[in-house]
Amino acid sequence: MQYQKIENKIGEVKYRKKLTKQYLGKNKFFPSEPDTKEIISALKDRISSTKNDFTFLKKQDVSLTPYLEIGAEFGHRASILEEKYNSSGFALDLSLESLTQAPFFAKKLKLKKIPQRICADAYHLPFLNNSFEFVFCYQTLHHFPDPSPIIGEIYRVLAPGGHFFVNEEPVSQRLNLNLWRRPTKLRAWEKAIKYTFILPFVSTIGKTETNHRILEETFNIKTWEKSLNCFENATVWLKPYPFGQESKINKKKSAGWLKPNPLTRSLINLSGGGIKILARKGGKLQNKVNSQIESFLACPLCRKIMTPKLFCSKCRTGYQSFKRIKLLLEKRLMVKLYPKLTNV
Ligand SMILES: C[S@@+](CC[C@H](N)C(=O)[O-])C[C@H]1O[C@@H](n2cnc3c(N)ncnc32)[C@H](O)[C@@H]1O
Ligand SMILES: [Zn+2]
Repeated sequence: MQYQKIENKIGEVKYRKKLTKQYLGKNKFFPSEPDTKEIISALKDRISSTKNDFTFLKKQDVSLTPYLEIGAEFGHRASILEEKYNSSGFALDLSLESLTQAPFFAKKLKLKKIPQRICADAYHLPFLNNSFEFVFCYQTLHHFPDPSPIIGEIYRVLAPGGHFFVNEEPVSQRLNLNLWRRPTKLRAWEKAIKYTFILPFVSTIGKTETNHRILEETFNIKTWEKSLNCFENATVWLKPYPFGQESKINKKKSAGWLKPNPLTRSLINLSGGGIKILARKGGKLQNKVNSQIESFLACPLCRKIMTPKLFCSKCRTGYQSFKRIKLLLEKRLMVKLYPKLTNV
């Protein structure tokens, strides 16, 4: 299995810090990335698709509390859960700067509730086993070289009978010459190439991110299938880009179960696609609806319960909060990512 490297994590933190400042209108670091107006409009779109997803999940009888969002950035999607479904849980991200600016974006997006925020690494979720009834993430798994270890860690913290939901993740195409990476906002010459329809076959997105050593991956259907094998049940929707018939597939015990219909498969092979997942951990829910979510917190290193003051009596490490965000990173990672906030 491959893992995100330390330089990728440092890249995430440094890039998100600058990008968030740009979103706030303070600097213009990246002309090819959104400004305040553009990101607010993009976040509004994301909120509206999240609302549709949660309505769908509710209809499927998925318990939406207590929840954990991974790669939550400004916590805007978790806010919807808190506001509309009275859910309680945590918005978790590696970027302290993104989490810190949650109130700014909540105000701009007219979101009434700001979720409890945790700065932590998705590889070492700071929670006890079998905690959450619902874990979700959007646009995050492709920042890892392999989704399997992250999904395995999610499975660990899910309560028996709990659900894991993923959306807005890419599935790789076969036909792409990958001649260069393009930024979010196309440059003039890239716009010209776009009109010839060949752009998605000669270049891939993620230029600014990869320049900062952030991983921008796309996984094939086989990798997605493998990553879900820890789950007892799963339903997967595969949709070709930019259009084409969606395939819905239920997990089976035998290998090769993630098989879309031939047309969907051919179109994904040609121009790529998107994946949506609803997976369920085996067992029966024990109704944690009224649980105190703080009781799920654990030392990211020992995975043992901590005192309310965030002290682990096993490894004798104390963790801290910064602007109401709990910093639950292993000491070695904390020193590398946030040296100024580390008490040594
Ligand atoms: C593209 S953003 C997703 C934003 C948000 N989920 C949305 O869809 O609106 C990916 C997020 O993953 C976070 N991330 C990357 N590596 C991580 C890690 N190892 N642990 C936790 N979060 C991580 C980044 O900091 C970033 O905020
Ligand atoms: Zn510990």
